[in-house]
Amino acid sequence: MCGIIGYTGARATLPLLLEGLARLEYRGYDSAGVALLPGRGGDGILATRQVMMAPATIVVRKAAGRLDRLQQLLRKHPPEQDLNGFTGSGVIFTTGIGHTRWATHGPPTDSNAHPHLDCRRRVAVVHNGIIENTLSLREELLSRGHRFTSETDTEVIAHLLEEALATGQGMYCAWLQVVARLKGAFALAALTADAPGSIWLARFSSPLVVGRGADGWLVASDIPALLPYTREVYVLQDREAAELLPDQARFFSFNGESLTKVPQTVAWELEQAEKGGFPDFMLKEIHEEPAVVRRLLTRYYPATGDGPDLGLPWGDGWWAQRRKLWIVASGTAAHAGLMAKYWLERVAGLPVEFDVASEFRTREPLLSQRDLALVISQSGETADTLAGLRLCRARGVPTLGIVNVPTSSIARESAAVLLTEAGPEIAVASTKAYVAQLVVLALLALRVAQARARHAAGVAAEAGGTPVVLPEDSGTWRQQLERGLTVLPTAIEELLGRQVVIDPRIVEKLASSEHVFYIGRGLDYAAAVEAALKLKEITYIHAEAYAAGELKHGPLALIGPGTPVVGILTQDELISRTLANLHEVKARHGWVVGVGPQHAVASDEAAFLDAYIQIPPLPGPARPVLAAPALQLLAYMVARARGTDVDRPRNLAKSVTVE
Ligand code: AGP
Ligand code: GLU
Repeated sequence: MCGIIGYTGARATLPLLLEGLARLEYRGYDSAGVALLPGRGGDGILATRQVMMAPATIVVRKAAGRLDRLQQLLRKHPPEQDLNGFTGSGVIFTTGIGHTRWATHGPPTDSNAHPHLDCRRRVAVVHNGIIENTLSLREELLSRGHRFTSETDTEVIAHLLEEALATGQGMYCAWLQVVARLKGAFALAALTADAPGSIWLARFSSPLVVGRGADGWLVASDIPALLPYTREVYVLQDREAAELLPDQARFFSFNGESLTKVPQTVAWELEQAEKGGFPDFMLKEIHEEPAVVRRLLTRYYPATGDGPDLGLPWGDGWWAQRRKLWIVASGTAAHAGLMAKYWLERVAGLPVEFDVASEFRTREPLLSQRDLALVISQSGETADTLAGLRLCRARGVPTLGIVNVPTSSIARESAAVLLTEAGPEIAVASTKAYVAQLVVLALLALRVAQARARHAAGVAAEAGGTPVVLPEDSGTWRQQLERGLTVLPTAIEELLGRQVVIDPRIVEKLASSEHVFYIGRGLDYAAAVEAALKLKEITYIHAEAYAAGELKHGPLALIGPGTPVVGILTQDELISRTLANLHEVKARHGWVVGVGPQHAVASDEAAFLDAYIQIPPLPGPARPVLAAPALQLLAYMVARARGTDVDRPRNLAKSVTVE
């Protein structure tokens, strides 16, 4: 993390950098900055390479906090001030890099904001990620007399470049020499006053994309920042570097081999990455859910009556031979995986082992080549998840990536990929991508069930074969899940179209509480875990989810008069049990809310509930997917009531590319 933007060309770079940074804001950041180099703009793309009219001075502005602090600073001290009166002669800043920082080394202060400079102020660097060998490099540089002005890990890069350039070699050789010394994760952009007009890039583990604009070249850490200028992007891979010039880009590997890269066309529309009339991205993205589900059904569920068509390379026999499925993911994506565990076991009769990626990667999972690893990620760049994927690949386990960003590392490195087609998700809190993951996973469960059932029937027909054994009610579950998915878009529309989706009393109650608990059983437990994460992420209220039956084994001690407990009640065979647990809460004077279809929450049995959230009717196995928009909206409304920054919650970033 977090955001990098850069431009070199014939236009004034500062407005462009600020717009790019604003588009990257959602990634979550604590400070921002820009570095600019002057050139002659406006009269042709090669202008910046012509004789410099102004001294090649790197002008830097940076500030802790939100982007508006940087903007204030730029108004108070315009970059031109540093050029000593050269601005009158057509000189503008035509090369620049910008950054939004999410601190890993050193607190979010003005001086720790990027860009970072060397001692002579001839090199400026911005960096996303983390340099793991920063301590030894810093000591080495200090011993040779370098002066550091920040506590960041990044600053070593500027001083290393200073030394490499001091030997008289050009920036190309210096760049490769420095990059070779770095350990950790990095996306880098740098410029030097010795070669104005060039931006130097390198990528290892943190994303970086390059695009050609009408009058120059751009770089960004995320595609939405490039969308106003281009749909054709060049994605840098690990150990790849580049030099951007006003009229061309050249790509090369860390070994110095030159590379020919082919641009990829991004289908995302700019409008998809804008708020479209909603007060924030999160609300907009919740309202996109029906369209996202429709798109997925069109893509993966043809009306042929033959079930899902996922285009995966594996046949019925292969699925029948799977020993176990592993689910590896982080945060919300992991919660989608937890839901899928229940579906896959129940409808496809396939054992599933679920693990959050940060645990999976550091324990010794007992993997077999007869397993399949499902790796789920919105961004496709989450460091822990990517490490989990690589571990599976190294052990020869087939991998299936379920990913939203098609150009991402996880999409590239998985043996097979299912795209979640949710479009760019801008709000840090995942909503539409989660629903999309659930739909893709449900379709996968149906496909696996179909394959295994077909294989079982075939084997049974042959004398002596051992057919796969599916759970007794798997057929009914399959039918219901299938039916539920097909009417899901309309059901979400119905929910979101209601005048009052969430009773304002619930919002008021939660907004004034310090602790909130969510409970559920089976699929509803998986839904509860995600609902609690959503609430804590954007409202900063302490929210926890428990399997409903676990309350009495400890957490019940936390319930006092008025403590809110939200019970999810979408599974008919479990409703009475969860209601009984809510009763136990009520008996301790807790404040109980039910979430479910009309027959669950408005029945006599549920009359003791203090409030309820009713979801439209839908076949049971698909109902928890419908609880998602309702509980996302609840978290959203509580956040609005508390006045928090819904799209950019404190301390969090959209894409977590550090361990
Ligand atoms: C979602 O609301 C969170 N911000 C977070 O848990 C996220 O789901 C997690 O970091 C995984 O991200 P990914 O899907 O991009 O891999
Ligand atoms: N590790 C660097 C720092 O703390 C960069 C963090 C980022 O990705 O923004 O300054």
